[in-house]
Amino acid sequence: MIEWREGLAIDHGGLDRDHRDQHELIRRFIETPATDDGLPLAVRLLRLLHRVSERHFIREERVQAAVDYPGRAEHRMQHRRLLEMLDDITGQMDQTSSLFDFAYRKAHANGLLEFWFFDHFARADVGLRRYMARLSLSQPPAGHIVNAAETMHQPQGRASGRSS
Ligand SMILES: [Fe+2]
Ligand SMILES: [Fe+2]
Repeated sequence: MIEWREGLAIDHGGLDRDHRDQHELIRRFIETPATDDGLPLAVRLLRLLHRVSERHFIREERVQAAVDYPGRAEHRMQHRRLLEMLDDITGQMDQTSSLFDFAYRKAHANGLLEFWFFDHFARADVGLRRYMARLSLSQPPAGHIVNAAETMHQPQGRASGRSS
């Protein structure tokens, strides 16, 4: 599992908290045993990751709109594809009629989640940070950027809460 590192930080605020929540949910999913006992938790974690990601993508897209980020249409498409991938993976988890057993499906899901989310963090999201740094907006962010990033933050929805 790829560890979170400071080089992935975007705004030292709401967006980074979301990213850490996403990272933690993916870590917990990967660590969930690929046994029948692990199946309900695996599905709950995927659904929670979907909720956290959906809220985060809206927040991140608001920041991009606020700074008029030139790559935002493509970035938005990537967010939509990540949510579709999550829906697909969730649907495959409890497919009892599948030719492949749960252990195989879960191993496949582990790899997809880790690769696609971290590819997005490390390339697309870090591109936003570089753009904001060039605008001299990242240290500290201007008020309207902070507002765009903080508007939707709801601590009760954080991944650190064990309930889902
Ligand atoms: Fe993003
Ligand atoms: Fe992001």
